[in-house]
Amino acid sequence: MTSNSSSIAKAVDVESVRFSVPDLAKMKAFLEDFGLSAAEDARDGVLRMRGIGDAPFLHETVEGEPAFVSLAIRVRDADDLKALADVEGVAVEAAPGPGGGQMVQMTDPDGFRVQAISGKERVPTLIQAPNYPWNITSRRERQGTAKRVAAAPAHVVRLGHVVLAVSDMEKTWDWWLSRFGLLISDEVRAPNDDLAALFIRCDRGNEPVDHHTLNFASVPGIPPKFHHAAFEVADLDDLMVGSSHLEAKGYSHDWGVGRHILGSQVFDYWRDPWGHRVEHWTDGDLFDAHAPMNVADLPTMMGHQWGPPSPADFVS
Ligand SMILES: [Fe+2]
Repeated sequence: MTSNSSSIAKAVDVESVRFSVPDLAKMKAFLEDFGLSAAEDARDGVLRMRGIGDAPFLHETVEGEPAFVSLAIRVRDADDLKALADVEGVAVEAAPGPGGGQMVQMTDPDGFRVQAISGKERVPTLIQAPNYPWNITSRRERQGTAKRVAAAPAHVVRLGHVVLAVSDMEKTWDWWLSRFGLLISDEVRAPNDDLAALFIRCDRGNEPVDHHTLNFASVPGIPPKFHHAAFEVADLDDLMVGSSHLEAKGYSHDWGVGRHILGSQVFDYWRDPWGHRVEHWTDGDLFDAHAPMNVADLPTMMGHQWGPPSPADFVS
């Protein structure tokens, strides 16, 4: 596959995800245990949750049947939005929720609803992310101080990536590439050489970005659907203490703790009360726009450097 090129707009990062479930209070309780906090009252019928970072919100929930609703992609500026609106033949609208801004609503080839947004204000960080020094053999960072990690939910700082199962990888990639000017970090090939997955990052030139902001996977027999949304936490201690907290609360654990191969991040997957898969991660790879695309196989994508094996239903 080819990446980048002259695109209509350029993605800067993923901004937020939206779900619908029948019980907003139950979702809020789960998300608080997952490490998010309320961004504002659900006065417009939308539950919005933020991390401790500078995004006004990362996770939205509306009342309804359990479903993934949409994802929002932040683009560079109002010119990007105008260009997207012109191509789609739609209007630029006010973006919902705190932070204001504007958006263009689109639908990708599999019917996933995508909002391109711009101008949404950054907000003051809630608190500083924990920074626990480590005494590793090559670097003694903590001297004269005991390490005490508070038993509490993890500190979600930001949304890092969204993974979707798609029906036609080439169609999907053409659509996203032409609109958002993305880059492929890893192209994953099936044994018959079919394109099985793409790990996709944003093009911010010389600025290093997450190894993947989006991941599209195509598995024969699996219809297009949301797979997971991944939230970055402060560090390994924070991820582990968050995992202990969710376990103590009786939530449904999915896979982890382990370290992926593609992207290298330490991962811990959980299910919200309706089964939507959400990931805590830390220590992922960063690449700028000059890093070449890597080609990998399916065992590499599904494998891990350490940790337990994936559950049988992880790809289903
Ligand atoms: Fe992930």
